[in-house]
Amino acid sequence: MKLIRTENYAEMSLEAGKIIVDKIRSNPRLTLGLATGSTPKGVYDYLIQDHGTNGTRYQQVKSVNLDEYIGLKAQDPNSYHYFMRQNLFKHLDISEHHTHIPNGAASDLKQECLRYEQLIKELGGVDLQILGIGQNGHIGFNEPGTPFSSRTHIVTLAKNTREANSRFFNSFEEVPAHAITMGIATILESKEILLLVSGEKKAEALLKFMNGEISEEFPASALKHHENVTVIADRDALKYI
Ligand code: F6R
Repeated sequence: MKLIRTENYAEMSLEAGKIIVDKIRSNPRLTLGLATGSTPKGVYDYLIQDHGTNGTRYQQVKSVNLDEYIGLKAQDPNSYHYFMRQNLFKHLDISEHHTHIPNGAASDLKQECLRYEQLIKELGGVDLQILGIGQNGHIGFNEPGTPFSSRTHIVTLAKNTREANSRFFNSFEEVPAHAITMGIATILESKEILLLVSGEKKAEALLKFMNGEISEEFPASALKHHENVTVIADRDALKYI
């Protein structure tokens, strides 16, 4: 595992952005695994700015997102479909039918999980997966206790995850209680993984990740089984390391 130490959020975003752009330039048909939330936002801003300034092209790039809330339609401003469109896709020349996110409004959710898993296979797997980390160590929406063997599945969100994400909603009650997420085994099949960690709120999780044991009680620890993980963290997140 490689650790890149950065001063702050801006520098973390820049370092990650540069790695992603390099990969796309050397493989314009790359399949990118994407995350939502506060952590990757600066990276997406970098990709947008680079696309405008340097003309990096996304016409043949494919993307698969980690997760989506159950019960929110794609048009819902709190859905991850909406987040991705507003914060990245609409600013790039990526074609809409190359961008994939689990459908949390599907009528048959179990079937949707199987479809998503199959889709990732058909794309030839994820070349580069971007991950954030939850304060409880979740990756994607794989909460503590999720088997490392899990594939794309339906989850009940932990209370502290819903609390953390309630900042995007009007109230805690509005945060969906369930989501579809790529499983841990699905994530581990990515050829390369970039784990982004920023801010003091993530310092304990990062300490546990770096120095703790590998356990299903701390989902991110599964990444220690992967041979190509780069952690890019800022000074606040690295407080204890
Ligand atoms: C989002 C995701 C989550 C987030 C994590 C951190 O698609 O899969 O695992 O990466 O909850 O969220 P932020 O970045 O908002 O702190």
